[in-house]
Amino acid sequence: MKIFIDTANVEEIKEASDYGLIDGVTTNPSLIMKANKDGKSFKNIVSEILKTVNGPVSLEVVSENSNEMIEQAVKLHNLGDNAVVKIPMTLEGLKAMKTLKKKEIPVNTTLIFNPLQALLAAKNGAMFVSPFVGRLDDIGEDGMAIINQIKAIYTNYNIKTEVLVASVRNPVHVLRAALMGADAVTIPYDVIKKLALHPKTDEGLSKFMSDWKKVSPDGTLPL
Ligand code: E4P
Repeated sequence: MKIFIDTANVEEIKEASDYGLIDGVTTNPSLIMKANKDGKSFKNIVSEILKTVNGPVSLEVVSENSNEMIEQAVKLHNLGDNAVVKIPMTLEGLKAMKTLKKKEIPVNTTLIFNPLQALLAAKNGAMFVSPFVGRLDDIGEDGMAIINQIKAIYTNYNIKTEVLVASVRNPVHVLRAALMGADAVTIPYDVIKKLALHPKTDEGLSKFMSDWKKVSPDGTLPL
């Protein structure tokens, strides 16, 4: 399962990349707004992200009109070979996707909330679909349930579009995504760190370190 980081914060992307965990990045206008708080321009933020990561970096269009989406998508994709364009799952978005498919511009269809939306996006050539599981949980639904449904539909028709689980809020989302065979998950930095941690790991390590001091009082490995 590919792990993407869901942020536009370059420091977070660099730190997570140092752990060797990051296969790509997803951004959206709200995440760009947070990264832009210190005055960094959109272009600077995005260029730095594209340089930092080898894998796909999703950058979102900011129009609800298909012609404008296409125009913006071309500009965004020109920023880097690894730039994937996020198109919202609307009728206008579908129209834009049809053209972007012809232009061979990779698309991540965003704001997916049911499996039929994922089917339509795949038919229009999306490279990724992003079902927002956390936002479904927020309204009392089981967000992860649609991942199974999308996977089943894609398997039925041998669809190659990748299921990118989005709006992830906790490690249980990630666990369930892996058990369901999601292709990718995009995860906020604080949740990525939580995946690696366990109190019994810390407790075990602390005991090993204190026992080792009984063997080697300065804690070194005497070799
Ligand atoms: C997906 O690509 C979005 O950037 C993101 O996962 C949305 O998450 P949120 O619901 O926590 O804002």
